[in-house]
Amino acid sequence: MSQSRINKAWRERMQKEESVTVHDLYAAYPDFQIVVEQEQKLMQEHDRIIFQFPLYWYSSPALLKQWQDAVLTYGWAYGSDGDKLHGKELLLAISTGGPEDAYQREGYNYYSISELIKPLHAMANLTGMKFLKPFLFQGVLGASDEQIQHSAEEYVAHALNASMEPVGK
Ligand SMILES: Cc1cc2nc3c(=O)[nH]c(=O)nc-3n(C[C@H](O)[C@H](O)[C@H](O)COP(=O)(O)O)c2cc1C
Repeated sequence: MSQSRINKAWRERMQKEESVTVHDLYAAYPDFQIVVEQEQKLMQEHDRIIFQFPLYWYSSPALLKQWQDAVLTYGWAYGSDGDKLHGKELLLAISTGGPEDAYQREGYNYYSISELIKPLHAMANLTGMKFLKPFLFQGVLGASDEQIQHSAEEYVAHALNASMEPVGK
């Protein structure tokens, strides 16, 4: 976060919203020792969960993966009694270094973002969460400060849009 341009701007803008709790996993758990009960309590207290992250090697940063492995337990998030996330909404907010046109068949990354985020979409499906339309900013390296600030406003408007329809499977 100390070297971030866009995720920092997004977080600072989102922190101004009273209805939103901003929880920085890397600040909370620099040693990767996630407190599972605390994380599950936070999830239960909120209706719309946003995973905000920079794309790292076509995936989420390691601590978010660790968070999934630790927090989404059998009997809590999935399994016959695991219904604690049912009906909640999952929104991804992702920044990428590569530009939008790199993430298509003709581009140098070949796969689209929608293909690359399928594991998170499947996670939402298994845990009974509604998967909302992701918010993306692509090509951060070439972005001006004005574009970054503008995207922070768009991010908050997108994230607080109450009537957003879930994306299908
Ligand atoms: C370890 C690492 C892996 C990265 N992997 C990708 C990647 O797979 N695809 C991509 O487009 N950008 C990748 N990037 C670039 C970041 O996504 C980009 O720098 C970030 O979205 C910018 O956000 P920030 O200003 O908040 O740091 C990677 C950066 C790092 C440090």
